[in-house]
Amino acid sequence: MAGIDFLVQPGGCLRGELQVPGDKSISHRFVILGSIASGESTASGFLHGEDTLATVAALRAMGVEIHGPEAGCLRIQGVGRGGLAAPGACLDMGNSGTAMRLMCGLLAGQRFDSALHGDASLNRRPMARVIDPLRSMGAQIDSAGDGRPPLRIHGRRQSLEPIDYAMPVASAQVKSCLLLAGLYAEGQIVIHEPAPSRDHSERMLRSFGAQVSVTGLRVSMPGGANLKAQHIEIPTDISSAAFFMAGACIAPGSSLLLRQVGINPSRTGVLHILRRMGADISASNEHHAGGELVADLRINHRPLRGIEIPVEVVPLAIDEFPALMVAAAFAEGDTLLRGARELRVKESDRIASVSAGLRELGIAVDEFDDGLCVHGGPVGGGSIDSQGDHRIAMAFSMAALGASDPVRIKDCANVNTSFPGFAELASSHGLAIQELRA
Ligand code: S3P
Repeated sequence: MAGIDFLVQPGGCLRGELQVPGDKSISHRFVILGSIASGESTASGFLHGEDTLATVAALRAMGVEIHGPEAGCLRIQGVGRGGLAAPGACLDMGNSGTAMRLMCGLLAGQRFDSALHGDASLNRRPMARVIDPLRSMGAQIDSAGDGRPPLRIHGRRQSLEPIDYAMPVASAQVKSCLLLAGLYAEGQIVIHEPAPSRDHSERMLRSFGAQVSVTGLRVSMPGGANLKAQHIEIPTDISSAAFFMAGACIAPGSSLLLRQVGINPSRTGVLHILRRMGADISASNEHHAGGELVADLRINHRPLRGIEIPVEVVPLAIDEFPALMVAAAFAEGDTLLRGARELRVKESDRIASVSAGLRELGIAVDEFDDGLCVHGGPVGGGSIDSQGDHRIAMAFSMAALGASDPVRIKDCANVNTSFPGFAELASSHGLAIQELRA
C-alpha cells in the first residue's frame, strides 16, 4: 500500500464551500443491514472508499446482489436474515477494523464456516474484544495467536445464545458486533457501555425495524429480528470534515462552509473540543436525514488556546485526535489529552505516530501511556511517516498551512480507505498539496 507521498508547501489558507465524502461508519452498517433485510434497500451519499468497498465485496462474496456505488448511490437486493451463502474464500477486510469486527458479529450466527483477514495493520489489531463476548453467545471462533486476525468462524446449526454484557472499553464496533450477532440469537441482547460511543447501529437497526431500546448506557434488543428494506440518506463524515476544521483553525484568513455534515451527538466531540480551544464554528440548516442529525458547519479562523481535554468527550472524538493534536501544535499553550489508550490500537498507534510527527516538525510533546501533552509553538517543516494511517496522513498535511517549510508525508495511499479525492479537494480549497508517486 506504500507508493504515494504528499508534499505540502507551507502557507495559504482554506476558503470556500465543500462537501466531504459520506460517513464511513454509517456506510458499513448500511451494507450489512441492507444485505440481510428483505427487499431492496438504497442509500445516497455512500462512501466510495476502500474500507466500505471491502464490506461490499464481502457481502457480494456471500451471494448478495449489490449495485454501485454510483455517484454515492448503493442499491442492495437484501436476501433476508437467513439468506447469506458460504463465501468461497477468506474474506479480505483490507485496512478496516470496523468491517472486520462488524462482520464477526454477522458471521458468528451463520450456518456456514467463514474466515476473515486483513492487511498488515489490521492483522495486528486486537479482536479478542469481539471474540470473547461472541464465544459467550456460543460462537466458535479461532484466531491467530493473541486474538489477532486471521479469524475462522465456525458455522452452527442452532441460534446463538442471549447475552448480558458489560463492555470493558467504550467501543461502537464491539457494541455493533454484538447487536448484529443478536439478530441470530434467541432471547434478549443487553449491552452496558462504560461511556457513550457512536450509536449509528442502534439508529439504523431501528429504521430497519428492529426494536432497540436505549436507557442511559444500557442498550437492549430482542434477538432474532427480521429486517425490512430501507432508503437511507448518509450524511458526510464529521471525521473527514475534521481535517478541514483543523486546517481552518491553523491558517489565518480561512473561512469554510462544510455542507451536510453528520452531527450525531455521539460524534461531535471534535466540535466541543475545538470550541473550547476558542474556534469559531457555527451550525446552520440543521435537520434529520436517515435517522441522523445533519448540519452545514461554518468555520472561520480564530487562534486557538491549549486546553485540558475533558476525559468524557474522548470517545466522542476518538478518530479526530490526529487532526486535533496537529491543531493543538498551533495553539497558545499546552493541550493535554488523557484517557485515550484506545488510540494505541487504531490503524497505527496514534499516540506514537502523532508524537513522532509533531516532534519532527519541532513541537515538544510529552507522551503518556493513555495520551499526550502538546506544547504549542512554532511549527517547522519535515518528513513525516504516516505509518500507512489515513488519518495521520491527512492531519499532517494540514500542518503545512502554518509551517515555516514544506511538509512531506510518506505512505499516504490509505487515505483512499476513508477519503478518496482528499488531495484534490484540499488543493482546490487552498492547501498547496501535491501527490507524489514514491
Ligand atoms: C467505529 C468505531 C470506532 C472508530 C472507528 C469506527 C465504528 O472504533 O474508531 O473508526 O464505525 O463503529 P471503536 O469501536 O474501536 O472505538
